[in-house]
Amino acid sequence: MAKLVNKTKVQELFKSYTSNYNPEDPKISLKIYHTHRVAENSKYIATKLNLSEEEIEIAWLIGMLHDIGRFEQIKRFGTFNDGISVDHGEFGADLLFKDRLIEKYIDTREYDQVIETAIRQHNKYRLREGLDSKTELFSNIIRDADKVDIFRVQVEEPIVGIYGIPFEEIQKQTLSDAVFEQFKEHTAILRDLKKTKLDYYVSHFSLAFELVYPCSKQLTKEQGYLKKLLGLKVENPETQKQIDFIKKEINSVL
Ligand SMILES: [Fe+2]
Repeated sequence: MAKLVNKTKVQELFKSYTSNYNPEDPKISLKIYHTHRVAENSKYIATKLNLSEEEIEIAWLIGMLHDIGRFEQIKRFGTFNDGISVDHGEFGADLLFKDRLIEKYIDTREYDQVIETAIRQHNKYRLREGLDSKTELFSNIIRDADKVDIFRVQVEEPIVGIYGIPFEEIQKQTLSDAVFEQFKEHTAILRDLKKTKLDYYVSHFSLAFELVYPCSKQLTKEQGYLKKLLGLKVENPETQKQIDFIKKEINSVL
C-alpha cells in the first residue's frame, strides 16, 4: 500500500521552502533543526502510543509543519516573540490552509482538519477544550514533542542568541516571586509573570509539568537535556535555594 506521507518529498519541500529564508542565519537554522527534531519526537511518541502506521506518518508530518510560520514571522517582524508580532501557530496554519500550501505536502484532504487544529493549538498555553478525540490526540502529541525539544534548544543553542545576554549574566539574576510561586502549582509559567531573563530561562523547566504522555516523560529522560538544565547554578544563594526547590518539584512529576 502506498504511503500516506512521502517523507523524502516532505523533507525536500521543507528544504526548498526554508531556503527562501537564509538557512545560514542562526535563527533560521535553529528552527530548521528544531523542526526535524520535533518530527522525530512526534514519531517516537505516536509509535509508543501504538498508533497505526498512517497515524504515525501524520504525527511526523505535523511535526514537520508545526513551526512553518516561524520563517515568515522572523522575516516580517524580525522576532520570534509572538507577544509583539503574530501567534506563530495561527500564522503557520493560515499559510498552510488559507494559502493551500498543505496540498503540496499531502495528497489526501482526509486529515486536514486534524493537522490544521494541531498546528493552531501547538503553542497555546492550554489546549482548547471540546476537541474530538483524534484531534486532541494529535494536538497533544505535537505539544509534547515540541516541549521535549525545547529542553534541547536551551542546552544546545547559544544562550546569547536566545536571550541577548551571555549565560554568566543570567546566572547573576534573581527569580521573580510570582514565577517561583507558580512552580508550586505544577503548571507552565504564564508569560506575563516573567520579568528577568532568569525567569524566562527557568520557566522552560516548567514545561515538564505539562507533558501529557508518560512516553514523552520517558523521552525527556532518555535525551537528558532537562536534567542538564536542572543542574543550573546561580550566584545568589537564596535564588539557588529556589532553583533547588524547583528541581525537586519537577523531578517529582517525571
Ligand atoms: Fe512552535
